[in-house]
Amino acid sequence: MNFKEFARDIYYVGVNDRMTSLFEGLWPLPMGVTYNSYIVKGSDKLALIDGVAIGECEKFRQNIVSRIGDKAPDYIIINHMEPDHSGALAAIRSFFPDITIVGNAKTLEMVKGFYGITDNVMKVADGDSIDLGGVSLVFRLTPMVHWPETMMTYVPERNVLFSGDAFGCFGALAGGVVDSEMDIEPYMPEMYRYYSNIVGKYGVFVQKALSKLSSLKLDYICPTHGPVWHDEIARVVDIYDRLSRYEGEEGVTIVYGSMYGNTEEMAEAIASRLAENGVKKIRMHDASRSHLSYILADIFRYRGLVIGGPTYSNTLYPPVEAVVRAITTREMKNRVISVFGSYTWAPQAVKRIESLLGENRGTAGEVVSVEARQSPDSDAIDGCRALADQITSRLQESV
Ligand code: FEO
Repeated sequence: MNFKEFARDIYYVGVNDRMTSLFEGLWPLPMGVTYNSYIVKGSDKLALIDGVAIGECEKFRQNIVSRIGDKAPDYIIINHMEPDHSGALAAIRSFFPDITIVGNAKTLEMVKGFYGITDNVMKVADGDSIDLGGVSLVFRLTPMVHWPETMMTYVPERNVLFSGDAFGCFGALAGGVVDSEMDIEPYMPEMYRYYSNIVGKYGVFVQKALSKLSSLKLDYICPTHGPVWHDEIARVVDIYDRLSRYEGEEGVTIVYGSMYGNTEEMAEAIASRLAENGVKKIRMHDASRSHLSYILADIFRYRGLVIGGPTYSNTLYPPVEAVVRAITTREMKNRVISVFGSYTWAPQAVKRIESLLGENRGTAGEVVSVEARQSPDSDAIDGCRALADQITSRLQESV
């Protein structure tokens, strides 16, 4: 990778991970992932910002040595304690025994809890700073983006923000590090997926962080995953702003489960009618085949949401239940939601989806639900088309 000095006195020393197949044991990584780390070099002191996962220790050490030779960093700043960034902490201390671990009160509790480390640590509070000589680090606490200890570090002399997971995305880097030296389009869908999978529940806290950071001049945003943002800062901040306000784009996500094709036939009827009504962005997911990771990304991205499934063992078909639970876990808001389903003798699926959604049902008013008995007859298909018509008009009303 390109380890050049991308801003004066600031270097990238992160690593690509193309071996892990599931992030957090849950989320697919077809493009891999990065654990980003940076060096800020003052005239007196050197600081390492953020660490890497435990499996990447040696690569990380080599990257640091390739940048600073036989010097040792004076500080490691922990913006976020999740082990994809802190896993190498004990190894870093063995590489650089005099390094001081810097974090806020909650960070240091976790440093002790995860790694048993209590010595040579420095506690910082919101607004505290460390002078490295000519450049300084200012700490801004941004709790619950997306852990309690999360904070960000700002270098005011260079207008550089180390943002932790915020503004991050899945995807290993393909040579370049800064957005201006790469094609960033493959990373954009990965940002929606990263946000919806990992951060999605904490929109309120992302909004608080955005507001807290709004007065900062930003030339570079350096997240813990994915490219460093420079040319595209306005775009990525806008994506995070809209996602954290649960503001959907024009379009409808249809998620369904189907054992024998009857519920799928209803999903197809809904999609066809939406298309006839001029809705262009229709994203269909069979919940048994699309990974939840991709389903959530589309649900966070588009304002319309149609969920359907069959009754199964007198309740809801399990793959659809998993999707609905993931939506409610993330406290989804501002969606036009409608529901459909089918059953053979016990009409439970629609009832179950509605009960799980509860107050997450949407804010644009009630939309009809449709449920077919056994194979959908012409009345059921007409119901699906009526449901699509209502969603279309609700979406138009809520623009
Ligand atoms: Fe990339 Fe929340 O850890």
